[in-house]
Amino acid sequence: MNELIDYAKQTKKVNFAIQLQSILKDAIRHHQTSGLTQVGSLKHQIREQDKEVNEFILEKLTSDYRMKDLVASESVKNELEYFIKEHKKINFLREHNLPVSNKILLHGPSGCGKTLAAYVLAGELEKMMYVIDLGSIVSSKLGETSKNLSKIFRRAASESCIIFLDEFDSLGKIRDYSQDHGEMKRVVNTLLQLFDYLPQDTILIAATNQKDMLDDAILRRIDLSIDLELPNKKQITELVSKVIANSNFTFDNKTTSQKCINESLGLSFYSIQKTLITAIKRSVFELSENVLKLQPKIQTSKWLELIQTEKKGLLKK
Ligand SMILES: Nc1ncnc2c1ncn2[C@@H]1O[C@H](COP(=O)(O)OP(=O)(O)OP(=O)(O)O)[C@@H](O)[C@H]1O
Ligand SMILES: [Mg+2]
Repeated sequence: MNELIDYAKQTKKVNFAIQLQSILKDAIRHHQTSGLTQVGSLKHQIREQDKEVNEFILEKLTSDYRMKDLVASESVKNELEYFIKEHKKINFLREHNLPVSNKILLHGPSGCGKTLAAYVLAGELEKMMYVIDLGSIVSSKLGETSKNLSKIFRRAASESCIIFLDEFDSLGKIRDYSQDHGEMKRVVNTLLQLFDYLPQDTILIAATNQKDMLDDAILRRIDLSIDLELPNKKQITELVSKVIANSNFTFDNKTTSQKCINESLGLSFYSIQKTLITAIKRSVFELSENVLKLQPKIQTSKWLELIQTEKKGLLKK
Protein backbone atom coordinates (compact mmCIF):
# COMPACT_ATOMS: atom_id res chain seq x y z
CA MET A 1 0.00 0.00 0.00
CA ASN A 2 2.74 2.45 0.94
CA GLU A 3 4.50 1.87 -2.35
CA LEU A 4 1.30 2.69 -4.16
CA ILE A 5 0.82 5.84 -2.13
CA ASP A 6 4.42 6.88 -2.73
CA TYR A 7 4.01 6.20 -6.39
CA ALA A 8 0.84 8.22 -6.51
CA LYS A 9 2.50 11.09 -4.69
CA GLN A 10 5.57 11.03 -6.95
CA THR A 11 3.41 11.26 -9.99
CA LYS A 12 1.34 13.99 -8.37
CA LYS A 13 -1.67 11.76 -8.26
CA VAL A 14 -2.35 12.91 -4.78
CA ASN A 15 -6.08 12.46 -5.10
CA PHE A 16 -5.63 8.85 -5.90
CA ALA A 17 -3.25 8.44 -2.97
CA ILE A 18 -5.79 9.89 -0.63
CA GLN A 19 -8.50 7.73 -2.06
CA LEU A 20 -6.43 4.65 -1.40
CA GLN A 21 -5.30 5.72 2.05
CA SER A 22 -8.80 6.01 3.24
CA ILE A 23 -11.85 5.93 1.11
CA LEU A 24 -14.07 7.27 3.77
CA LYS A 25 -12.10 9.26 6.26
CA ASP A 26 -10.58 11.95 4.06
CA ALA A 27 -13.94 13.27 3.06
CA ILE A 28 -15.16 13.71 6.58
CA ARG A 29 -14.31 16.74 8.60
CA HIS A 30 -14.90 16.34 12.24
CA HIS A 31 -16.63 19.11 14.00
CA GLN A 32 -14.38 21.02 16.34
CA THR A 33 -15.81 21.02 19.80
CA SER A 34 -12.73 22.42 21.47
CA GLY A 35 -12.16 26.09 22.09
CA LEU A 36 -12.54 28.59 24.86
CA THR A 37 -15.76 28.37 26.78
CA GLN A 38 -17.25 31.09 28.89
CA VAL A 39 -18.78 29.70 32.05
CA GLY A 40 -22.52 30.19 31.96
CA SER A 41 -22.63 30.91 28.24
CA LEU A 42 -24.97 29.11 25.91
CA LYS A 43 -22.04 27.27 24.44
CA HIS A 44 -21.12 26.03 27.88
CA GLN A 45 -24.61 24.68 28.45
CA ILE A 46 -24.52 22.86 25.16
CA ARG A 47 -21.21 21.32 26.05
CA GLU A 48 -22.56 20.16 29.39
CA GLN A 49 -25.38 18.37 27.60
CA ASP A 50 -22.80 17.00 25.23
CA LYS A 51 -21.31 14.95 28.01
CA GLU A 52 -24.56 13.17 28.72
CA VAL A 53 -25.33 12.08 25.19
CA ASN A 54 -21.87 11.96 23.70
CA GLU A 55 -21.34 8.31 24.50
CA PHE A 56 -24.10 7.44 22.05
CA ILE A 57 -23.02 9.78 19.32
CA LEU A 58 -20.41 8.01 17.26
CA GLU A 59 -19.55 11.04 15.19
CA LYS A 60 -20.66 14.59 14.69
CA LEU A 61 -19.56 15.51 11.24
CA THR A 62 -19.87 17.45 8.06
CA SER A 63 -19.21 15.67 4.81
CA ASP A 64 -17.74 16.48 1.42
CA TYR A 65 -19.54 13.65 -0.34
CA ARG A 66 -21.74 14.54 -3.27
CA MET A 67 -24.21 12.68 -5.49
CA LYS A 68 -21.47 11.99 -8.02
CA ASP A 69 -19.76 9.74 -5.44
CA LEU A 70 -22.70 7.39 -5.23
CA VAL A 71 -23.28 4.79 -7.92
CA ALA A 72 -26.95 3.83 -8.06
CA SER A 73 -29.89 3.37 -10.39
CA GLU A 74 -31.49 6.40 -11.98
CA SER A 75 -34.59 6.00 -9.87
CA VAL A 76 -32.63 5.92 -6.59
CA LYS A 77 -30.68 8.98 -7.67
CA ASN A 78 -33.88 10.77 -8.63
CA GLU A 79 -35.47 10.06 -5.28
CA LEU A 80 -32.42 11.35 -3.45
CA GLU A 81 -32.26 14.44 -5.66
CA TYR A 82 -35.90 15.24 -4.90
CA PHE A 83 -35.28 14.81 -1.19
CA ILE A 84 -32.32 17.18 -1.39
CA LYS A 85 -34.37 19.67 -3.38
CA GLU A 86 -37.15 19.65 -0.81
CA HIS A 87 -34.70 20.73 1.85
CA LYS A 88 -32.98 23.28 -0.30
CA LYS A 89 -36.36 24.80 -1.07
CA ILE A 90 -37.90 24.28 2.33
CA ASN A 91 -39.10 27.88 2.61
CA PHE A 92 -40.85 27.67 -0.72
CA LEU A 93 -42.72 24.54 0.38
CA ARG A 94 -43.66 26.20 3.66
CA GLU A 95 -44.99 29.27 1.88
CA HIS A 96 -47.35 26.98 0.01
CA ASN A 97 -48.28 25.03 3.12
CA LEU A 98 -46.82 21.86 1.69
CA PRO A 99 -45.35 19.21 4.00
CA VAL A 100 -41.62 18.52 3.86
CA SER A 101 -40.35 14.94 3.80
CA ASN A 102 -37.71 14.55 6.46
CA LYS A 103 -37.66 10.86 7.44
CA ILE A 104 -35.83 8.55 5.14
CA LEU A 105 -35.07 4.84 5.39
CA LEU A 106 -32.13 3.33 3.53
CA HIS A 107 -32.13 -0.41 3.23
CA GLY A 108 -30.30 -3.09 1.32
CA PRO A 109 -27.42 -5.52 1.68
CA SER A 110 -24.16 -4.65 3.41
CA GLY A 111 -21.64 -2.64 1.40
CA CYS A 112 -24.11 -1.16 -1.08
CA GLY A 113 -23.98 2.44 0.03
CA LYS A 114 -26.37 3.05 2.94
CA THR A 115 -23.77 4.85 5.03
CA LEU A 116 -22.36 6.48 1.91
CA ALA A 117 -25.81 7.77 0.89
CA ALA A 118 -26.24 9.31 4.36
CA TYR A 119 -22.89 11.10 3.94
CA VAL A 120 -23.97 12.26 0.48
CA LEU A 121 -27.15 13.78 1.92
CA ALA A 122 -25.15 15.53 4.66
CA GLY A 123 -22.69 16.78 2.04
CA GLU A 124 -25.26 17.99 -0.46
CA LEU A 125 -27.35 19.72 2.19
CA GLU A 126 -24.28 21.04 4.00
CA LYS A 127 -25.79 20.04 7.30
CA MET A 128 -24.15 18.75 10.43
CA MET A 129 -24.87 15.05 10.97
CA TYR A 130 -24.99 13.10 14.21
CA VAL A 131 -24.21 9.44 13.67
CA ILE A 132 -25.96 7.56 16.44
CA ASP A 133 -24.84 4.22 17.71
CA LEU A 134 -28.23 2.68 18.23
CA GLY A 135 -26.71 -0.64 19.18
CA SER A 136 -25.02 0.88 22.22
CA ILE A 137 -28.07 2.89 23.27
CA VAL A 138 -30.16 -0.22 23.27
CA SER A 139 -27.72 -2.53 24.98
CA SER A 140 -25.89 -0.35 27.49
CA LYS A 141 -28.53 1.10 29.73
CA LEU A 142 -31.62 -0.91 29.52
CA GLY A 143 -34.57 1.07 30.71
CA GLU A 144 -32.97 4.32 29.68
CA THR A 145 -33.22 3.83 25.96
CA SER A 146 -36.26 6.06 25.58
CA LYS A 147 -34.72 8.81 27.67
CA ASN A 148 -31.46 8.73 25.70
CA LEU A 149 -33.24 8.79 22.37
CA SER A 150 -35.33 11.76 23.45
CA LYS A 151 -32.24 13.67 24.53
CA ILE A 152 -30.50 13.09 21.23
CA PHE A 153 -33.53 14.09 19.19
CA ARG A 154 -34.00 17.24 21.24
CA ARG A 155 -30.41 18.22 20.75
CA ALA A 156 -30.46 17.53 17.01
CA ALA A 157 -33.71 19.44 16.58
CA SER A 158 -32.30 22.48 18.37
CA GLU A 159 -29.48 22.53 15.82
CA SER A 160 -31.67 21.53 12.84
CA CYS A 161 -29.20 18.93 11.75
CA ILE A 162 -29.33 15.35 10.49
CA ILE A 163 -29.78 12.38 12.80
CA PHE A 164 -28.37 9.21 11.32
CA LEU A 165 -29.57 6.06 13.05
CA ASP A 166 -27.34 3.34 11.67
CA GLU A 167 -28.22 -0.29 12.43
CA PHE A 168 -31.79 0.78 12.91
CA ASP A 169 -32.85 -2.84 13.29
CA SER A 170 -31.02 -3.07 16.65
CA LEU A 171 -34.22 -1.76 18.17
CA GLY A 172 -35.69 -5.16 17.54
CA LYS A 173 -32.99 -6.66 19.71
CA ILE A 174 -34.49 -5.16 22.84
CA ARG A 175 -36.70 -8.21 22.74
CA ASP A 176 -33.65 -10.36 23.41
CA TYR A 177 -32.17 -8.20 26.14
CA SER A 178 -35.23 -7.49 28.16
CA GLN A 179 -37.30 -9.89 30.14
CA ASP A 180 -40.44 -7.89 29.84
CA HIS A 181 -41.55 -6.80 26.43
CA GLY A 182 -42.79 -3.58 28.00
CA GLU A 183 -39.44 -1.96 27.39
CA MET A 184 -39.65 -2.61 23.67
CA LYS A 185 -43.13 -1.09 23.57
CA ARG A 186 -41.96 1.97 25.47
CA VAL A 187 -39.08 2.57 23.09
CA VAL A 188 -41.21 2.15 20.00
CA ASN A 189 -43.81 4.53 21.45
CA THR A 190 -41.15 7.08 22.26
CA LEU A 191 -39.77 6.82 18.75
CA LEU A 192 -43.20 7.24 17.22
CA GLN A 193 -43.65 10.45 19.20
CA LEU A 194 -40.18 11.69 18.36
CA PHE A 195 -40.84 10.98 14.68
CA ASP A 196 -44.17 12.81 14.81
CA TYR A 197 -42.79 15.90 16.45
CA LEU A 198 -39.55 16.14 14.54
CA PRO A 199 -39.22 19.69 13.16
CA GLN A 200 -39.32 19.76 9.37
CA ASP A 201 -35.80 21.08 9.01
CA THR A 202 -34.36 18.25 11.10
CA ILE A 203 -33.70 15.19 9.00
CA LEU A 204 -33.83 11.64 10.19
CA ILE A 205 -31.99 8.96 8.24
CA ALA A 206 -32.33 5.35 9.34
CA ALA A 207 -30.33 2.54 7.79
CA THR A 208 -30.89 -1.18 8.02
CA ASN A 209 -30.26 -4.38 6.15
CA GLN A 210 -33.14 -6.06 7.93
CA LYS A 211 -36.24 -4.11 7.10
CA ASP A 212 -38.46 -6.92 8.32
CA MET A 213 -37.21 -6.35 11.87
CA LEU A 214 -38.88 -2.96 11.95
CA ASP A 215 -42.18 -2.18 13.55
CA ASP A 216 -44.98 -1.42 11.07
CA ALA A 217 -46.00 1.71 12.93
CA ILE A 218 -42.48 3.06 12.48
CA LEU A 219 -42.33 2.10 8.81
CA ARG A 220 -45.59 3.94 8.20
CA ARG A 221 -44.04 7.17 9.45
CA ILE A 222 -41.13 7.04 7.03
CA ASP A 223 -41.53 9.55 4.19
CA LEU A 224 -39.11 7.98 1.76
CA SER A 225 -37.84 4.43 1.63
CA ILE A 226 -34.86 3.70 -0.60
CA ASP A 227 -33.50 0.33 -1.65
CA LEU A 228 -29.76 0.20 -2.29
CA GLU A 229 -29.26 -3.04 -4.15
CA LEU A 230 -26.26 -5.05 -5.29
CA PRO A 231 -24.76 -3.46 -8.40
CA ASN A 232 -25.59 -4.54 -11.95
CA LYS A 233 -22.99 -4.63 -14.74
CA LYS A 234 -23.39 -1.01 -15.69
CA GLN A 235 -22.99 0.08 -12.08
CA ILE A 236 -19.93 -2.14 -11.59
CA THR A 237 -18.36 -0.54 -14.65
CA GLU A 238 -19.10 2.90 -13.27
CA LEU A 239 -17.63 1.99 -9.89
CA VAL A 240 -14.47 0.63 -11.51
CA SER A 241 -13.95 3.80 -13.52
CA LYS A 242 -14.40 5.86 -10.38
CA VAL A 243 -11.77 3.87 -8.53
CA ILE A 244 -9.14 4.30 -11.22
CA ALA A 245 -10.28 7.72 -12.43
CA ASN A 246 -7.54 9.79 -10.84
CA SER A 247 -4.70 7.44 -11.71
CA ASN A 248 -3.06 6.41 -14.94
CA PHE A 249 -3.67 2.72 -14.28
CA THR A 250 -5.24 0.72 -17.05
CA PHE A 251 -6.17 -2.94 -17.36
CA ASP A 252 -3.70 -5.29 -19.01
CA ASN A 253 -6.46 -6.83 -21.12
CA LYS A 254 -9.86 -5.47 -22.09
CA THR A 255 -11.54 -8.84 -22.58
CA THR A 256 -10.49 -10.21 -19.20
CA SER A 257 -11.36 -6.96 -17.46
CA GLN A 258 -14.85 -7.41 -18.89
CA LYS A 259 -14.82 -10.97 -17.61
CA CYS A 260 -13.94 -9.65 -14.13
CA ILE A 261 -16.90 -7.30 -14.28
CA ASN A 262 -19.22 -10.16 -15.23
CA GLU A 263 -17.79 -12.33 -12.47
CA SER A 264 -18.35 -9.55 -9.92
CA LEU A 265 -22.11 -9.81 -10.25
CA GLY A 266 -23.48 -10.83 -6.89
CA LEU A 267 -20.82 -8.97 -4.91
CA SER A 268 -21.39 -5.69 -3.12
CA PHE A 269 -19.93 -2.35 -4.24
CA TYR A 270 -17.64 -2.52 -1.25
CA SER A 271 -16.31 -6.01 -2.05
CA ILE A 272 -15.72 -5.14 -5.69
CA GLN A 273 -13.88 -1.97 -4.77
CA LYS A 274 -11.81 -3.86 -2.21
CA THR A 275 -10.78 -6.64 -4.61
CA LEU A 276 -9.87 -4.12 -7.30
CA ILE A 277 -7.70 -2.05 -4.97
CA THR A 278 -6.00 -5.21 -3.71
CA ALA A 279 -5.35 -6.27 -7.31
CA ILE A 280 -3.85 -2.86 -8.05
CA LYS A 281 -1.56 -3.14 -5.02
CA ARG A 282 -0.41 -6.61 -6.01
CA SER A 283 0.18 -5.56 -9.60
CA VAL A 284 2.23 -2.58 -8.50
CA PHE A 285 4.56 -4.76 -6.42
CA GLU A 286 5.72 -6.46 -9.59
CA LEU A 287 6.37 -3.38 -11.65
CA SER A 288 9.64 -1.54 -12.07
CA GLU A 289 9.97 2.15 -11.22
CA ASN A 290 10.02 3.09 -14.88
CA VAL A 291 6.88 1.24 -15.83
CA LEU A 292 5.16 2.66 -12.77
CA LYS A 293 5.87 6.15 -13.99
CA LEU A 294 4.63 5.45 -17.48
CA GLN A 295 1.65 3.22 -17.98
CA PRO A 296 1.12 0.84 -15.10
CA LYS A 297 -1.18 -2.09 -15.85
CA ILE A 298 -3.55 -3.80 -13.51
CA GLN A 299 -3.20 -7.57 -13.85
CA THR A 300 -6.74 -8.71 -14.48
CA SER A 301 -5.81 -12.32 -13.66
CA LYS A 302 -5.05 -11.21 -10.11
CA TRP A 303 -8.29 -9.31 -9.86
CA LEU A 304 -10.30 -12.26 -11.20
CA GLU A 305 -8.74 -14.55 -8.60
CA LEU A 306 -9.65 -12.15 -5.79
CA ILE A 307 -13.22 -11.85 -7.06
CA GLN A 308 -13.58 -15.60 -7.12
CA THR A 309 -12.18 -15.96 -3.60
CA GLU A 310 -14.59 -13.29 -2.41
CA LYS A 311 -17.51 -15.12 -3.99
CA LYS A 312 -16.50 -18.41 -2.41
CA GLY A 313 -16.45 -16.61 0.93
CA LEU A 314 -20.02 -15.52 0.35
CA LEU A 315 -21.14 -19.05 -0.38
CA LYS A 316 -19.73 -20.31 2.91
CA LYS A 317 -21.76 -17.79 4.91
N1 LIG B 1 -23.46 2.61 -4.24
C1 LIG B 1 -22.16 2.84 -4.06
N2 LIG B 1 -21.48 3.68 -4.87
C2 LIG B 1 -20.17 3.90 -4.71
N3 LIG B 1 -19.42 3.34 -3.74
C3 LIG B 1 -20.03 2.50 -2.89
C4 LIG B 1 -21.42 2.21 -3.01
N4 LIG B 1 -21.75 1.34 -2.03
C5 LIG B 1 -20.63 1.10 -1.33
N5 LIG B 1 -19.58 1.79 -1.84
C6 LIG B 1 -18.21 1.76 -1.32
O1 LIG B 1 -18.16 0.84 -0.24
C7 LIG B 1 -17.93 1.51 0.99
C8 LIG B 1 -18.82 0.91 2.07
O2 LIG B 1 -20.17 1.16 1.80
P1 LIG B 1 -21.23 1.60 2.91
O3 LIG B 1 -20.52 1.76 4.21
O4 LIG B 1 -21.99 2.76 2.43
O5 LIG B 1 -22.13 0.31 2.95
P2 LIG B 1 -23.43 0.01 3.86
O6 LIG B 1 -24.56 -0.24 2.93
O7 LIG B 1 -23.58 1.10 4.86
O8 LIG B 1 -23.02 -1.38 4.54
P3 LIG B 1 -23.34 -1.94 6.03
O9 LIG B 1 -24.73 -2.50 5.98
O10 LIG B 1 -22.33 -3.02 6.20
O11 LIG B 1 -23.18 -0.81 6.98
C9 LIG B 1 -18.25 2.97 0.71
O12 LIG B 1 -17.52 3.82 1.54
C10 LIG B 1 -17.85 3.12 -0.74
O13 LIG B 1 -16.44 3.28 -0.84
MG1 LIG C 1 -23.34 1.19 6.93
